[in-house]
Amino acid sequence: MTRIVYNTATTLNGFLADDADSLGWLFAVPGAPEAADDFAGFLAGVGAFVMGATTYEWVWANDEAENPGSWAATYGSLPCFVVTHRQFRTPEGADVTFVHGPVAEWVEAVVAAAAGKDVWIVGGGDLVGQFADVDRLDEVRVSVAPVVLPSGRPLLPRRLEADRLRLEQVRQRGQFAELVYRVNPRG
Ligand SMILES: NC(=O)c1ccc[n+]([C@@H]2O[C@H](COP(=O)([O-])OP(=O)(O)OC[C@H]3O[C@@H](n4cnc5c(N)ncnc54)[C@H](OP(=O)(O)O)[C@@H]3O)[C@@H](O)[C@H]2O)c1
Repeated sequence: MTRIVYNTATTLNGFLADDADSLGWLFAVPGAPEAADDFAGFLAGVGAFVMGATTYEWVWANDEAENPGSWAATYGSLPCFVVTHRQFRTPEGADVTFVHGPVAEWVEAVVAAAAGKDVWIVGGGDLVGQFADVDRLDEVRVSVAPVVLPSGRPLLPRRLEADRLRLEQVRQRGQFAELVYRVNPRG
């Protein structure tokens, strides 16, 4: 059965990126090879992925524009849904669909595209919150970096207490602590 999973790296104090949308702090953490191996394993179980406009712009500007073909090398034709009010270019060979509005209006199309595998929500945090708001978030999987930032883009700007989050796994991966939580529907 398809699960909807938020998988991301975060600072110790819950930021996805700094105020300038930079991930320089993340790439400076030792242990990137272990993290890359892990990511390939995770991606093998993913049938479709979703990201917000800012994240897509970041991937485009920092990845595809600098190294054309990098999207195809990483994701192939894996269906990607970009949540935005705007239109963007798409990488060569990529399967990108632009959606907007309430999650409930397009989430079934994402699940159908995943064809029985999991849906990965890349971020950002508010988009993940929109899934949680309508009980369509099943798992939160965070890799906590040994980094603290004074401010930045939040990991998950919602109030989810212990009745909603259940810790299922804790692992050390190099300098990262990976925490896996099951997300319970609202009671
Ligand atoms: N640490 C990591 O591994 C990691 C993971 C993911 C992301 N990041 C970074 O974290 C930052 C996240 O940025 P962000 O918090 O701004 O979030 P984001 O989700 O990437 O982008 C937010 C934008 O998405 C669009 N959007 C969101 N929900 C929508 C909806 N329901 N309908 C239509 N449009 C919608 C809106 O843009 P428009 O209205 O302008 O279209 C909104 O301003 C980025 O810098 C990203 O690169 C880091």
